[in-house]
Amino acid sequence: MDDEVISLFPLGTERSASGHLMIAGHDLAQLAKTWGTPLYVFDAGTVRNQVNKIKQLLTQYYAGPNEITYAAKSYFSLGAARHMAEMGLGVDVVSLAEMSIARKAGFDADKVHLHGNNKSEEELLAALDWGIHAVVVDSLDELLFFEKLAEKRKKKARIWLRVTPGIEVDTHPDIQTGHLTSKFGFLLSDGQAAEGIRRAQASPWFDLVGLHAHLGSQLFEAEPYLDTIEMLLSLADRSHFLPIEICPGGGWGVRYTLEDSTESPELWVKTVGKTVSEQFARRGWPLPKLVLEPGRYIAAQAGVSIYTVGTTKVVSDGTTVVAVDGGMADNIRPAIYGSKYSLLLVNRPASGTQRRTSIVGKFCESGDILISNAQLPEMHRDDVVAMPASGAYQLAMSSNYNMAPRPTVLWLTPGNVEMLQKRETLDAGGWWMGA
Ligand SMILES: Cc1ncc(COP(=O)(O)O)c(C=O)c1O
Repeated sequence: MDDEVISLFPLGTERSASGHLMIAGHDLAQLAKTWGTPLYVFDAGTVRNQVNKIKQLLTQYYAGPNEITYAAKSYFSLGAARHMAEMGLGVDVVSLAEMSIARKAGFDADKVHLHGNNKSEEELLAALDWGIHAVVVDSLDELLFFEKLAEKRKKKARIWLRVTPGIEVDTHPDIQTGHLTSKFGFLLSDGQAAEGIRRAQASPWFDLVGLHAHLGSQLFEAEPYLDTIEMLLSLADRSHFLPIEICPGGGWGVRYTLEDSTESPELWVKTVGKTVSEQFARRGWPLPKLVLEPGRYIAAQAGVSIYTVGTTKVVSDGTTVVAVDGGMADNIRPAIYGSKYSLLLVNRPASGTQRRTSIVGKFCESGDILISNAQLPEMHRDDVVAMPASGAYQLAMSSNYNMAPRPTVLWLTPGNVEMLQKRETLDAGGWWMGA
């Protein structure tokens, strides 16, 4: 079982001769001892590998200019942002803080775009002042609001419009974004998107250069991307608008368990590249810059969460309940999406019979369950365990529930450990300290 589950961890994860789990040559049991748990680690090599894979696929399947912009919402910190910038990525930000960190980390303004369904005046002005590549306008209301701000600043804004194609994708309902009732984007079917294009083109304060759509996250099918691109291009055509940039979002999925799809991102990039090429060629339009916005695909597999086992007990239906020292404060995904995870012992390989086990957190909610009813080896107090595919939408959605400090986060390269996030402490201050 160990061997198979290891494939969900960062590339090159292995067991040492002494049975410890190793990533990039680092002994996770030793890291847990040194840094304490809960502990999160990112394997730099896996992040780079994912980025390079998409780069290579874009080169293979798309002849026009292209850009990969990392969706910062999946995981961001100053250290991580610096590494992403060094890898030549662009960045998709959704808040003033993400934009400020991107700037501090050295991202070129021309590789940044700002998303959000309710951007504040402060955020829009910061985007204008820094001169980011594009603000992705999300609604007619926002278009008018932003136009006034641009006029007040006497600065013409480069924009994309986010279009909602009305397509439902096969994923958890809460991470679908392109459906008819979505809070995001200009709906296509009722004419809002066409109206947005008309008004943006008519405004002296906007330079409309592109169209965007994002369908949802943790997707393994290509057809919705194909349909979306066709819809965006037919809208552009009807609106007499020639986009020079096109972005069909991010969304490609990753494996959290051995049951998850093994479909490769090749299907995604190939479909998107070919569809954009065909749709533009058919109209005799020059190929646009194709922008992809992956978050989960870049960050998830590289990240691992590491916990120490505390209490164990058997409940009335015979399930063994193993409590670890983290839980819903650092990983809310199982509680809100019913997300499934896998687990390996860090300090020894699995041995003996497996039992029906739930891994629970330490927080005061019965829903604080990281893994429900899985077949897992016997575990005892002080065992150290690791959960793969923990790099995206975990720390990024973490909280201080029960006043839990956010954990230490490390960036691992062979022979080096860099701290991306320092464990919060009461002494370090925060909202709980008052003024
Ligand atoms: C506009 C936009 N682009 C890109 C992404 C990244 O999606 P994923 O992490 O699934 O690739 C998101 C995620 O919600 C998004 O809202």
